Amino acid sequence: MGYTIAVTGKGGCGKTTISGLMISSLIRNGMAPVLAVDADPNSCLDSVMGVTVHKSVGTVREEARKIAAANEVTGVSKRELLELKISESLVEAEDFDLVAMGRSEGPGCYCYANNVLGAVIREISDNYPYVVIDNEAGLENLSRRIVKSVDLLVLVAEPSMNGLRTVARLYDLALEMGIEYRALAVVVNRVRGDGVSAMADEVAQKIKADYTVMIPVDDEIAGYGEKGMSLRNLPVENIVVREVDRFMRTVMQRGEE
Ligand SMILES: Nc1ncnc2c1ncn2[C@@H]1O[C@H](COP(=O)(O)OP(=O)(O)OP(=O)(O)O)[C@@H](O)[C@H]1O
Ligand SMILES: [Mg+2]
Repeated sequence: MGYTIAVTGKGGCGKTTISGLMISSLIRNGMAPVLAVDADPNSCLDSVMGVTVHKSVGTVREEARKIAAANEVTGVSKRELLELKISESLVEAEDFDLVAMGRSEGPGCYCYANNVLGAVIREISDNYPYVVIDNEAGLENLSRRIVKSVDLLVLVAEPSMNGLRTVARLYDLALEMGIEYRALAVVVNRVRGDGVSAMADEVAQKIKADYTVMIPVDDEIAGYGEKGMSLRNLPVENIVVREVDRFMRTVMQRGEE
């Protein structure tokens, strides 16, 4: 599996924005093709990346289930059918591919189809140097073990005391759930001034984060979000683009060490 980055955090804190910018940065730094995984059923990583998903993995799983139930499978195993179907849900762009997970089958479901899908996604991801997973708020997807362990867990925080406390709680939850990661990053998003930096350092130290990243609030990014424009069209001079670039270059450097 390629170097896997999973992004999580509270609702609306900027997970999809940060995921999209990290993917663009990796591409700019010669890491194409990147595999983008949209693991949030309500998310829109595809529009942030300027592509459209027609079929989620959840949809494909249901289709495969119906075909199998109607006994229309002749000479094709259930696993092969799922493998075949998953290729239908992969959106191929020039320098990245994107797959959207869609709905889960409910909490605590470790059924056969999910296991196969997890295995297939792990297989697919061997073809990419980097995999970036945009998760829904909380740690559901990671706990569902679509991805067993990640190289870098990115916790995105709101720039406030409560936001940072949430990150500390997410960390405790990750430990409780046995989520495995090699490196941990705290990304404080929409920062104004340096009012929260001491608090961010304190939390980062407490949870033994390897990276503490401060991303400023930016009108241009907000404008793109409001209009639903793809972040791929942002100028490289944009302050947030530059900060995410800096973060990704450090990650890539450490990955090579
Ligand atoms: N650094 C920033 N400066 C200004 N606006 C930002 C910044 N980061 C994110 N935003 C805006 O905040 C809004 C929420 O961001 P985003 O959709 O990335 O959050 P999310 O955590 O993925 O949300 P959800 O939990 O709903 O998936 C978007 O409109 C986005 O444009
Ligand atoms: Mg999102």
